[in-house]
Amino acid sequence: MKTSLLFSEKQIEAQVAELAKQINLKYGTEEVIAVGILKGCFVFFSDLIKHLTTSTICDFCSVSFYGQSIRAKQTASLSLNMSQPIQDKHILLIDCIADHGYSLKHMQDHILRHKPKSLTSVVLISKPEAHKTASIDFSGFRVDQDVFVVGYGIDYKEEGRSLPYLAQLEDLN
Ligand code: IMP
Ligand code: MG
Repeated sequence: MKTSLLFSEKQIEAQVAELAKQINLKYGTEEVIAVGILKGCFVFFSDLIKHLTTSTICDFCSVSFYGQSIRAKQTASLSLNMSQPIQDKHILLIDCIADHGYSLKHMQDHILRHKPKSLTSVVLISKPEAHKTASIDFSGFRVDQDVFVVGYGIDYKEEGRSLPYLAQLEDLN
């Protein structure tokens, strides 16, 4: 897998701290349920919640798409649901990367049907198309639509998740 550096560990650390600062300002002392979209969120999720000063409950979900393409299809389904009720709770939805925004939008619609007190979405990285599809409150980094990112929990065909930095895939065809 040929890659080139996009954002270093230090840049990510600073950006995650900055995102947490804004999230802390938003919630004050209110309890929040942090919902991570697996698998890609797991590194970002664990680093982000360590900075949260509000009382935080952790939960996870997963969205699957029909078909094998690494590019998301619009046909999404929930393959892992959250483990606790979200009605009247503040929900912080955490995703690693929003490309066309389909998975984020799918989860947002699902969560909103269960009437939370509020819903805030944070992604580590977003591409322009995602902002047209889903409502993204906080985005750590923005990259061009044609950039394919790996590292820091994000994979290409299950490879690259353990890289401590964010890299761009060089030989994607
Ligand atoms: P969506 O188009 O925002 O729904 O993205 C769906 C999923 O495609 C993401 O959650 C990732 O799993 C995957 N994906 C999209 N863009 C990238 C990328 O640049 N690197 C790795 N996975 C990606
Ligand atoms: Mg993937």
